[in-house]
Amino acid sequence: MVKISPSVLSADFCRLSAEVEDIRRGGAEYVHVDVMDGIFVPNISIGLPVVESLRKATDMFLDVHLMIDRPHRYVERFCAAGADLVTVHAEADQPQDLFACIETIKAQGKKVGMSVKPKTPAEVLLPYLPQLDLVLVMTVEPGFGGQRFMHDMLPKIERLRRFINEQNPGCELEVDGGVDPVTAPLCKQAGANVLVAGSAVFKHADRAEAIRAIRQA
Ligand code: DX5
Ligand code: ZN
Repeated sequence: MVKISPSVLSADFCRLSAEVEDIRRGGAEYVHVDVMDGIFVPNISIGLPVVESLRKATDMFLDVHLMIDRPHRYVERFCAAGADLVTVHAEADQPQDLFACIETIKAQGKKVGMSVKPKTPAEVLLPYLPQLDLVLVMTVEPGFGGQRFMHDMLPKIERLRRFINEQNPGCELEVDGGVDPVTAPLCKQAGANVLVAGSAVFKHADRAEAIRAIRQA
């Protein structure tokens, strides 16, 4: 069964713990936390203190997506703040520092993910794939919620599903950006098993219904 990871980027930050409780009751498996630094992406969102607060507020799995430049500087602190999974971008660091990110995150007993932006080919992830717990395919340009799903990313999802099955079958394949009840079945068909959804969950009054609609679509 596919896992749903609602992105709190589209939640009401003034009532974040209630929002998270809402998606927990609605059956979501993960909480997706989008961290942006205004450099790797043209937007600034939330960071370490919010992850720490979320860790105190919930026992849900915290799926932390770092859209920050040179993430090796911060991965240890995001683990300590309470992330269960830390995902870094392949474009954001030098290869030796990406390998260092993987080592550091694993040494903290946490799961490690790596993400690619729409223009980055799937093959870029191959050197890291044997060590990854999750691969994240961006289906919008990272930086903002509420954008339209890029259908031309579907072949990349299929390609990564093939690489994962051949080289690291336990690795999860997550899709992020523009996922809703219309695009979710396309992602699943292409081989994704974790779906991030921001606006499709949090802009919907009934979160349980929104999650169900994405899962069952
Ligand atoms: C975009 C973020 C996404 C975003 C998804 O940079 O990584 O997680 O919140 O939002 P929707 O589902 O609205 O596209
Ligand atoms: Zn994200």
